[in-house]
Amino acid sequence: MHIKHHPVLGEQLQKTITIYFNDLPYTAYEQQTVAAALMANGIKRLGSSRNLVQPRGLFCTKGRCCSCYATINGEDHVRTCQTMVEDGMKIYPNDEDPEVRGECCGD
Ligand code: FES
Repeated sequence: MHIKHHPVLGEQLQKTITIYFNDLPYTAYEQQTVAAALMANGIKRLGSSRNLVQPRGLFCTKGRCCSCYATINGEDHVRTCQTMVEDGMKIYPNDEDPEVRGECCGD
């Protein structure tokens, strides 16, 4: 799922790091967003909707919605599509904090 050599940008994704999702380790590359790293590791569900408790994940991929919110290093409601990975980063799905999702997107 990774583009390691881009015809214009050259070599990409050279240094691997470890991130943690739900306390499980996953390999990611520096220069990736959290959302891209999780998707590359097969993780597509980043939380659940408040009312219907349906899976949430990537939607706009450009910071305009709140579908990709997760808790990262203790900070709630971080847009994973706009946040770059860091070594040792701890990521948890946005399952149990309905207030902001409801206000933001009215799901
Ligand atoms: S997918 Fe819309 S803000 Fe991240």
